[in-house]
Amino acid sequence: MGALFHPFSALAQLEQSGPLIIERGQGVRVYDQAGKDYIEAMSGLWSTALGWGDAELIDAATEQMKKLSYGHVFAGKSHEPAAALAEALKALVPFPTGKVFFACSGSEANDSQIKFAWYAANARGQTRKKKIISRNRAYHGVTLASASLTGLAPVHQSFDLPLDFARHTDCPHYYRGAEPGESERDFSRRMAANLEALIQREDPATIAAMIVEPVMGAGGAILPPEGYFDAITQVLDKYALPLIDDEVITGFGRTGEWFGCAKYGFEPDSMSLAKALSSAYLPISAVMLSAELSDIIDAESKKIGVLGHGFTYGGHPVTTAVALKTIEIYKRRDIVGHVRHVSVGFLKHLAALEDHPLVGEAKGVGLFAGIELVADKAGKRAFEPARGVAQMLGRFAEAEGLILRPLPGDRFALCPPLVITADEIDELFARLNKALDRTLEWSLRA
Ligand SMILES: Cc1ncc(COP(=O)(O)O)c(C=O)c1O
Repeated sequence: MGALFHPFSALAQLEQSGPLIIERGQGVRVYDQAGKDYIEAMSGLWSTALGWGDAELIDAATEQMKKLSYGHVFAGKSHEPAAALAEALKALVPFPTGKVFFACSGSEANDSQIKFAWYAANARGQTRKKKIISRNRAYHGVTLASASLTGLAPVHQSFDLPLDFARHTDCPHYYRGAEPGESERDFSRRMAANLEALIQREDPATIAAMIVEPVMGAGGAILPPEGYFDAITQVLDKYALPLIDDEVITGFGRTGEWFGCAKYGFEPDSMSLAKALSSAYLPISAVMLSAELSDIIDAESKKIGVLGHGFTYGGHPVTTAVALKTIEIYKRRDIVGHVRHVSVGFLKHLAALEDHPLVGEAKGVGLFAGIELVADKAGKRAFEPARGVAQMLGRFAEAEGLILRPLPGDRFALCPPLVITADEIDELFARLNKALDRTLEWSLRA
């Protein structure tokens, strides 16, 4: 392991096994030091939508680096790539946006969201509005504030988190959370009723916003149940609470729509973007603010004299140039259309997985899937967590030349580059089925 701390890794196990060292990548495949190929079915960290080694993105970075290797947008300076990207994003997102703020990671975007929500509430004289509602099993990042919104124990334990502005409502996982005989729509209505009860308990005058991922990622790759966003946005509207849409994973085509909010039919007040924004070739994130929020923040800053928020590398010319090129490629190559096309086969393979003795739930949308491994399908009985069944599947998958992501609750995700072809999807599932069979054999032996 050497001197490097490996995030979100079981460090004791890593000390024994050592990490898988990836040396290079091309398309949807990466290669280890021995030259073995892996289908990278996670796009790295749900991020490199155009896959590895895209020559156009490499050229865009190189050209911009030669022209203006660094620039910032502080103190009256600006540059063309950042301004052009802000305009391009504003034109792309499916809600009326005012201004765009650039940061370097999803966590920074979500921290900025919290600060902007407080800033706007203070500007309106609503100075008690501090609490942000998130959900159990949500993942919104790891900086102090975004980690507080994340609803996962290892992100909080021994870090003295969450901070006390964060509140967590239910994780809307129908497979695990539904009562006997409850329909998806009834379950969604119950989730919304619980949200409303939380809002009333806390006092709506103390709540600044709610944050959601359209599909929940690192907390378990969980799709929203039918009618969920309809039900919760009705509650938020009733109390005039803004909705922050964390599209860090779902932005730019993952669900078969440009954005997850369009897929699930809701309109946010602000949006966080990262990852596929630059196909993860360089670190960049964006906060998209509604026209109303932008105007309030703008006016408050004019009163104070300055907008006291920003990052040295936020809107970096090279990262913004690469993001601009990424968006141009998404449009020119019709990546969203391609996702819709290949998703049919992807979802067919996924549905077939439900016949496997180990698979309790296999749900997907676009090119995103969440799968849960169970000891007993009929009774939905989970494995003993200590057995680490999903981790074991991850290891068998690597042996078969496939990278997937084990998640809490013996779940795992598939989130391949959006450029994956139908043949590559067939190959992905062939490797996955072999890994599942090996895991089943192991689970019966162990
Ligand atoms: C939905 C969501 N929000 C925020 C983040 C945090 O992004 P970053 O790791 O760039 O800080 C992630 C990272 O996986 C994410 O999936």
